[in-house]
Amino acid sequence: MKIILIGYMGSGKSVIGKELSKVTGLPFFDLDSFIEQEENLSIEAIFAHQGEIYFRKKEAAYVKQLLRSNDKMVLATGGGTPCYGEVMTELLQTPNSSTVYLNCSVDTLTKRLWKEKDHRPLIRHLTSEELLNDFIRKHLFERSFFYNQAAIKVSCDVLTPSEIVAQIVLKLL
Ligand code: S3P
Repeated sequence: MKIILIGYMGSGKSVIGKELSKVTGLPFFDLDSFIEQEENLSIEAIFAHQGEIYFRKKEAAYVKQLLRSNDKMVLATGGGTPCYGEVMTELLQTPNSSTVYLNCSVDTLTKRLWKEKDHRPLIRHLTSEELLNDFIRKHLFERSFFYNQAAIKVSCDVLTPSEIVAQIVLKLL
């Protein structure tokens, strides 16, 4: 069984993924960490030195590699992973897998990301919470086309991590 978590930056893919891994006994993998290990560079450095297009090509190749590498996993993808090339279609066609969209509102994402935007290449240039909110509103609207193709969707705004995990497990049954 492979559980593939998708959703915007700050939606909790890593936190929920780790907790889901404990509850299900499936090993946890984080795509961003895998890319950093394989490239021997931080995501920030890859964006800065090689650019976003290089990152997206690598991201698409590494997610395929990771999904092939193990039969069982909880996988936290990056916020943009399903939104480029044919990746979402490939995620949906992965045998014995379920895609899960962690759906958070623009306001929740803004609050979370404002505090930790400085190491995130796509939003670090935004100088006020209002600009960040506008950016997320537009970006999330574009990306929702991909996120909403997930088999399972969970609205995360008012739930604790354990409640989100419980909902995912219930929907997987
Ligand atoms: C990105 C999200 C990041 C990381 C990169 C690009 C995106 O992952 O892959 O900075 O395009 O939304 P997280 O969603 O884990 O922060």
